[in-house]
Amino acid sequence: MIIVKSQSEIKKIAAACRIVAEILESLKDFVRAGISTAEIETYVDREIRKRDAIPAFRGYRGYPSSVCISVNDQVVHGIPSRTIRLQSGDIVSIDLGVILDGFYGDAAITIPIGNVGPDALRLIRVTEDAFHRGIQKAVAGNRVSDISAAIQGHVESNGFSVVRAFVGHGIGRSLHEEPQVPNFGKPGQGPRLKEGMTLAVEPMVNAGGPDIKILDDGWTAVTADGSLSAHFEHTIAITKNGAEILTKL
Ligand code: MF3
Ligand code: CO
Repeated sequence: MIIVKSQSEIKKIAAACRIVAEILESLKDFVRAGISTAEIETYVDREIRKRDAIPAFRGYRGYPSSVCISVNDQVVHGIPSRTIRLQSGDIVSIDLGVILDGFYGDAAITIPIGNVGPDALRLIRVTEDAFHRGIQKAVAGNRVSDISAAIQGHVESNGFSVVRAFVGHGIGRSLHEEPQVPNFGKPGQGPRLKEGMTLAVEPMVNAGGPDIKILDDGWTAVTADGSLSAHFEHTIAITKNGAEILTKL
C-alpha cells in the first residue's frame, strides 16, 4: 500500500530532509584527498546527533554504520573503514539517511576528489542529470515507471548502464515504503503518482555493464566488471506543481 502524506507529515519529512541536505552540503568541503572513510563517518554521526536526529542506516538490517560511503567501483552500501583513504582521482558516493520526529529523509551525492578524469566527471554529471530527467516525470497522474524510463533513457543514451539490483522507494515513517521506483523499465507502468506521495529517487549508474556483486562484508556492492559507479538520490514530494526536492537546500 502506498501511503499518501498530509501537509503536516510532509513538513516533518522535509525537516528530516533538511538535515540530510545540510550535512551532505558540508561534506563537499570536508571530504578531501587523504581522509579515511571512517573519519567521514565520525564527522557525519556527530553532525546528525548535533541536530537531535537519529542515523537511519545504523542497525538497519544490521548495517554497522551511520552513512554509506562507496568509492570508485563501489556502487552503494560501502562500509566506512579506517583503511580506505580517499585519493586524488577518486569518486566517492555518500548516502545518508536520518530520522527526525519519527520521519525519514534519505539522499546521496557523488563527489569527485582532487583531479578526476573526464570520463569519471561525465559519469557523475550524467547520473545527476538522469535524476533530474526522472523527477521531471514525477508528476501527479503519471505512473512510477515514467520516472524509471526517463532515467534509463538518459543513462543509456550516454553509453552508461543503470543498476537493476537496487531501486528507489517510497519513504515516510519507514525508510522503505511502497512503491519501488526502479531506474529502468518501459513508461506507463506501475502505480499512478498522486499528490502527497513521497519518494526516494536514486539512480545508480555504472560506466560499464549493469551487473553488481556483493563483497564478503555482506554489504558493499561493487560493479561486476570493475568499472566506476555513481549515485545520486533525493527524497521528493509529489505536489500540485510537480516534484519538490526535499533534500536540497
Ligand atoms: N539510500 C539507501 C536506501 O535507500 C541506503 C540504505 S543503506 C542501509 O536503501 F544500510 F540502510 F541499508
Ligand atoms: Co534510498
